[in-house]
Amino acid sequence: MTDKYAVIGNPIEHSKSPQIHAAFAEQTGEDIEYGRILGDMEDFYGDVRDFVGAGGKGLNVTVPFKERAWQLVNERSEQAKHAGAVNTIIVLEHGRLRGDNTDGIGLVRDLKQNHGFDLEGKRILLLGAGGASRGVLLPLLQKRPQEVVIANRTESKAIELAGLFAEHGHVTGVGLDHAHAEPFDLIINGTSAGLSGKVPSISGGCLKPGGWTYDMMYSDEPTAFVRWGLEQGAAKALDGLGMLVEQAAESFFLWRGVRPETVPVIRLLRP
Ligand SMILES: NC(=O)c1ccc[n+]([C@@H]2O[C@H](COP(=O)([O-])OP(=O)(O)OC[C@H]3O[C@@H](n4cnc5c(N)ncnc54)[C@H](OP(=O)(O)O)[C@@H]3O)[C@@H](O)[C@H]2O)c1
Repeated sequence: MTDKYAVIGNPIEHSKSPQIHAAFAEQTGEDIEYGRILGDMEDFYGDVRDFVGAGGKGLNVTVPFKERAWQLVNERSEQAKHAGAVNTIIVLEHGRLRGDNTDGIGLVRDLKQNHGFDLEGKRILLLGAGGASRGVLLPLLQKRPQEVVIANRTESKAIELAGLFAEHGHVTGVGLDHAHAEPFDLIINGTSAGLSGKVPSISGGCLKPGGWTYDMMYSDEPTAFVRWGLEQGAAKALDGLGMLVEQAAESFFLWRGVRPETVPVIRLLRP
């Protein structure tokens, strides 16, 4: 019987996840169906219950439900525990739910496997201290960079977030205007400024010559942060499409035990 999966969010019509998972299923021969669910802002738990009750095997969870999913699940992976958010729900026996978070693995794999960027020993500036930044910090620190500086518009949130990860590596939190002490090898944008076409206001000169920039946001056109990176002379200015496909591949692996090829699917989405 065909196993059912879906992505739940609000809004959801823009999601590329159904197309990505359909491509994975075709490539691997896995017999799955993957839909999209417009989550009820007042009754996310009810939506998940209905999906599981109808035999659903797993869900991807997107904005704004990742924190609620974290609350809902019966057990959590290490990644999910640290991220404080769940983007992948695995339905276990008797309807028990396991929560995982594959966003950070997606970012790290895109950087390393698709683009050859080695994080070890590097100085990294992470812009933003919201859910996206928190979700990627553990996998980033596990690659043993020299330092991760979290810079956020609201400085106190950056300091608080750095404190949560202090035992995993050299990580500090600062305000956006203090992000320039010494230039960085990689600047990652984990803010939502790009949703309104903006770039977090950091000073030029933050990027080392030959440094890279990475926008977790993606778009068919170059995002505002990709354009900013190119203006700063970045050797590569990437957006988050590869991260999106890589996090989906990790979810697919968690559900099916099969690892799909990601490069052809990234090419499919951006020929
Ligand atoms: N590619 C992927 O697979 C993937 C996965 C996850 C997330 N994302 C992307 O990551 C982004 C952030 O999502 P989120 O869930 O972390 O959002 P969030 O929890 O709402 O956090 C938003 C962050 O952006 C900062 N911010 C917002 N507007 C700003 C501005 N004009 N200037 C400077 N900073 C600003 C906020 O700073 P304050 O604390 O000062 O308000 C906060 O740190 C979204 O664009 C999302 O699409 C991509």
